[in-house]
Amino acid sequence: MKRKGISILGSTGSIGTNTLEVVRSHPERFRVVSMAAGRNIALLKEQIEEFRPAFVSVGSEDAAAALRNSLSVPVAVEAGPGAAMKAASLDGVDMTVAAISGAAGLLPTMAAVRAGKDIALANKESLVLAGRLVMEEAAKRGVNVLPVDSEHSAVFQSLLGHRREDLKRIILTASGGPFLKTPLPELERMGPEEALKHPRWKMGRKVTIDSATLVNKGFEVIEARWLFGLPPEKISVVIHPQSIVHSMVEYIDGAVMAQMSAPDMRSPISYALAYPERIASGTEPLDFSRLSLDFSAPEPERYPCLGFAYEALKTGGTAPAALNAADEVAVELFLEGRIPFTGISRVIGEVLGAHQSKEPGSVEDVLEADREARRLARSAAASA
Ligand SMILES: NC(=O)c1ccc[n+]([C@@H]2O[C@H](COP(=O)([O-])OP(=O)(O)OC[C@H]3O[C@@H](n4cnc5c(N)ncnc54)[C@H](OP(=O)(O)O)[C@@H]3O)[C@@H](O)[C@H]2O)c1
Repeated sequence: MKRKGISILGSTGSIGTNTLEVVRSHPERFRVVSMAAGRNIALLKEQIEEFRPAFVSVGSEDAAAALRNSLSVPVAVEAGPGAAMKAASLDGVDMTVAAISGAAGLLPTMAAVRAGKDIALANKESLVLAGRLVMEEAAKRGVNVLPVDSEHSAVFQSLLGHRREDLKRIILTASGGPFLKTPLPELERMGPEEALKHPRWKMGRKVTIDSATLVNKGFEVIEARWLFGLPPEKISVVIHPQSIVHSMVEYIDGAVMAQMSAPDMRSPISYALAYPERIASGTEPLDFSRLSLDFSAPEPERYPCLGFAYEALKTGGTAPAALNAADEVAVELFLEGRIPFTGISRVIGEVLGAHQSKEPGSVEDVLEADREARRLARSAAASA
């Protein structure tokens, strides 16, 4: 069997390291051709020495120099955003795992699509910022965009074998994060330490805070709109604290297809890497004799950011990019202890209220809207 050449963008992150675990378990199927990371040079060095990629990109010239000096194996190391785009689109890559966090993932994802590489998509921000542009480019190049997000992987799997015209809606599940039961007046006082304690998933810091505000689910609603071509009214969200049902598809006859598994990202990652085959992922099997599953509606007062995401999706154009930019600025300020937890939604609300959305003709238009929304968010944060 010819081994699939993989590029891993964000190799030192939570999704990146889980992807490398899947690759490590299936050396006969996959080989790592390139990697991109930011600043974690110590972990990247270990990864390079184990997986021997041909090309690696890092976030700065200093990091590149430090890495080159410490390596005992031959590998080309480059720095900067152009370098991550090169890693994404290198010859020999069959599939690019897009797992850089935040808006920084957009250009490398787009570079991979333009180079005709299949995408295993974790960086939902690529679709939040530029869903139409990315998916149109993918369609033009015949590129498969396979979801890594567990919810979208569940929807993807629940759509297989069914006619799209029979679909009524999709239902994305959300754990509800660490503040599902916190009395509302106490939310104002919750700091980074409490917000970073996710009850089910071990993820990067940014996406963990986004799960506490549920803006992450809002991003996933926007991601689903572009991945599955659905209008907002056909995308629902339900709270499911156990994170066993990863999402569902309801059909017009009332039947609901759900995909279930233990909450372990190696399951959707291995599905995307090996699609259409299934391979062992190391995920623990479910013990149905001990399972109890709860579902409830998300409370709008607890999770205002989910409402903002639907609003941005309905407005369209650059509004979702502004939503994301406002959130990136606000979460960073929250993690630095400069705004309260509830300040995150206030910043997002103000930025969306002030943002003048327009239909972007190019990725550069999207990035301009992103920069402008960051400026607005920093001034909104002063009173958050
Ligand atoms: N974690 C999950 O379970 C999960 C589930 C579904 C979707 N996602 C999505 O997957 C993406 C990654 O999440 P994560 O939890 O893996 O995040 P993470 O643990 O914070 O990792 C982020 C990765 O991106 C790299 N990075 C950050 N900025 C960069 C830049 N400017 N240039 C190059 N590399 C950069 C980091 O490098 P350094 O660490 O070396 O600086 C790291 O490798 C996010 O879009 C998230 O929403 C995550």
